[in-house]
Formats: sequence, structure tokens, C-alpha cells
Amino acid sequence: MAATDLERFCNEEKRNLSLGGHVGFDSLPDQLVSKSVTQGFSFNILCVGETGIGKSTLMNTLFNTTFETEEASHYENAVRLRPRTYDLLESNVHLKLTIVDAVGFGDQINKDESYRPVVDYIDTQFENYLQEELKIRRSLFNYHDTRIHVCLYFITPTGHSLKSLDLVTMKKLDSKVNIIPIIAKADTISKSELHKFKIKIMSELVSNGVQIYQFPTDDEAVAEINSVMNAHLPFAVVGSTEEVKVGNKLVRARQYPWGVVQVENESHCDFVKLREMLIRVNMEDLREQTHTRHYELYRRCKLEEMGFKDTDPDSQPFSLQETYETKRKEFLGELQKKEEEMRQMFVNKVKETESELKEKERELHEKFEHLKRIHQEEKRKVEEKRRELEEEMNAFNRRKLAVETLQSQSLQATSQQPLKKDKDKKNFFSLPSACSITSGRHVN
Ligand code: GTP
Ligand code: MG
Repeated sequence: MAATDLERFCNEEKRNLSLGGHVGFDSLPDQLVSKSVTQGFSFNILCVGETGIGKSTLMNTLFNTTFETEEASHYENAVRLRPRTYDLLESNVHLKLTIVDAVGFGDQINKDESYRPVVDYIDTQFENYLQEELKIRRSLFNYHDTRIHVCLYFITPTGHSLKSLDLVTMKKLDSKVNIIPIIAKADTISKSELHKFKIKIMSELVSNGVQIYQFPTDDEAVAEINSVMNAHLPFAVVGSTEEVKVGNKLVRARQYPWGVVQVENESHCDFVKLREMLIRVNMEDLREQTHTRHYELYRRCKLEEMGFKDTDPDSQPFSLQETYETKRKEFLGELQKKEEEMRQMFVNKVKETESELKEKERELHEKFEHLKRIHQEEKRKVEEKRRELEEEMNAFNRRKLAVETLQSQSLQATSQQPLKKDKDKKNFFSLPSACSITSGRHVN
């Protein structure tokens, strides 16, 4: 059944009835209030502005307490988002207030990417909420919602125009958060300059297409005050936690040698207007806008990015189940393709390695054959040498034998001749003129 048919069917079925007496469902709003009060509220403020512009002082002044006094470092390499959560109680109403400071904003020489950490922080809070929503077991009831409900953008009171950093940052943030621009330290700018400055800022925001938060005028109870306040934007504020005696009253003010600037005096600054609009009149609208406009946009883009759609290409309703099935099929197809690619890659690698190994084996075989040939050659040479040596040895032995034979023959001959020798000797000594013996030397 198409959506329009269903609506028609429902309208036909709806009947108006009058009650016979008091039933009690008129207490539903009270039940809601009671439940909400028990549960408590959370409100998250993001303060973006240069270091020392008066962010902490304004927060302390707004909530009439002292959150922190330490000043931030001026030497940050990049903008850093620092959230701090406080539990506040006012007439039984619990408020979990988170103040997020953009520490180091505007302190870097290159400010091109200054907006990015701020945008990323806002997106991360949306993502955390979306993840909680997508869980099977959701616990949104006691989930600490950290989504930024309002961004107070602190403008330096130059009296001239917005800096490009302000315009770029606000432009990047306007689809993600409710921006309320405020002129900080408004006591440092004269009344006529402030008036011109406000007009200039608004015209610059409009000409650059920056969407700031507009106080809602659809609720009759607040429509009038909200439309008046919309015309006062950007609020020019002064912050101070110092109390000064004015008349016989102690008021929060900044005291100067020439006079006193009273924070809560509407003819001195717009602090009261800001507090009224931010806390007393539109806090719930800011929370609602965050959920229904900014978070919804984030959620839609994210789900579309993930492939979820409400309608198919023929503009027919597309169920989550169908989307899931389609995505699953796509994913499985991709997986199979990847698997096949990896398998092919593996086979190729194996083949490559195999051919490399074969080549190595062939090289080794060749090397082995070469070494074998060298070895055989060496062996042959050694064999030859051995043979030559053997021949030499044989020749030597033969010669030795011959010498020995000769020696033995000569010995034999010598042993048969002693008599003859003695005879000869005698003959020799008996011959006086044969020879003479010189200097005692014996001659054999
Ligand atoms: P960081 O956290 O260090 O970035 O500074 P911040 O933006 O929180 O500024 P902070 O509130 O610490 O104020 C810095 C100085 O400005 C202090 O000396 C304040 O007294 C002064 N200051 C704060 N608000 C105002 C204001 O409305 N007017 C004037 N004239 N001075 C202010
Ligand atoms: Mg501070």
C-alpha cells in the first residue's frame, strides 16, 4: 500500500468523540515535566573566540558561578577543544552543563585549518550519538548527550569588520550548530561605533551566506520578544565576576577610573539579553534544533554515505531490510572479487618463486658440473705426478741396487786383497826414496 493510500485509510478511520466526564489524560504535560525534571537536562555550550577575549569570564557571569580561572596557553600548535562538565542545580532542576573551549583559536600563524578541529569535535559528538542510536541495546535514556547545543562565537571588538577567520569558521559551522555571534568586551567600543559595527557584521554575515541562529517566532508566547531580540544580534556583551557598589546595591560590573560598566544594565551592554535568550527563553529550542535540524542532517548524510536510502531509483519506498540485503550482496561480491584477486596474486607469486628456484637450481647444477670437471682435471694431474714419481722411485731404486751391488763387489774385492796390501805396504816402507811423511799427517 502506498503512503498516500495509507494516510487516506487512517483519516477515514479517525473519529472525533466527546468524553462523558474527566478521564485524566490532561495531566500528561505534568507527567512529562515531572519525568524530565527527575531525569535532569544536559546543555552543551561551545565557546569559540581568540585567546583572552573573555570566554571564561562570560561563562562565569552567565551562570553566576566560578567555573575556572586559569588562562589558556597562547602557544598551542593547533586549536584544541577542551570540554568541561559541571553538575548544576537550580530549584530542583539538575543541569549537566558542558562548556567546550576552543583553546588556542586564532593563535597560529597559519589559520587556514583553525576551523577544522572545531568541526571535527562537533561531528564526533554527533557520531557518538548515532552509534548509540544504532546499537541493538540502546541506552539513550541515561546517555550523556554531548552534542553541542549552541556555539557562542566571540567577535573581537575592532569596530571595523569581521576577520576572514571568523567568516570562514562561522560558514563551516553554520550547518552543524546553532551559532549566536556576540561582540566581546563591548565596553571597549563606543556607542556609535558599536551600532555601526553591529550593522556591518550582520551585512557581512548575510553577504557571505552565514546562517546564524534565529530565535524562534513560531511560538506565540515568545514570538514577540524573540523577534525583537533577533534585531539586536549580535549581542554586545561585557563579562565580570567583580561586584561593585552602585548606589546602595552590589552589582556585577567593571570599574574604570572614569566610571563603572554594569554587566546587567541594558543601557550598558546586551548581557541581559543574551542570558534571557540563551538560558531563560530558548534553551529548549536550542536543544531541539540541535536534534531535529543539525543532528538530523548529520545522520542523513552519514546513512546515505553508508548506502541507506528511503526510496529506490523508481521512487518506491526502500526498506532497511532491502538496503541491508543489497549492501550485503554488494559487500559479498566485493569480498569474492578481492578473494579471487588475492588467490591470483598468490598463484602468480608461487609461479614466480618456482621459476626463480628452478633458475637457481640450474645455476647450482652448472657450478657443480664445472667444479666436478676441475676436480677430475686435478685428479688426473695428481695421478700423472704420482706415476712420474713412481717411475723416478723405481729408477732410483734400480740405481741404488746397482750402487749397492757395486759396493758389495768392491767390498768383496777389498776383503780378498789385505795380504797383497800388507805386502805392498811393506814394499812401500822399505823403499826409502819412495815418499816422505810430512808434519805427522797420516795418509791411508
Ligand atoms: P583564555 O581562556 O586564556 O583564552 O581567555 P578567555 O577568553 O577565557 O578570557 P578571560 O575570561 O580569561 O579574560 C581575559 C581578560 O579579559 C581578563 O583580564 C578579563 O578580566 C578580561 N575581560 C573579560 N571580559 C571582559 C570584558 O567584557 N571587558 C573587558 N574590558 N575585559 C574583559
Ligand atoms: Mg578561558
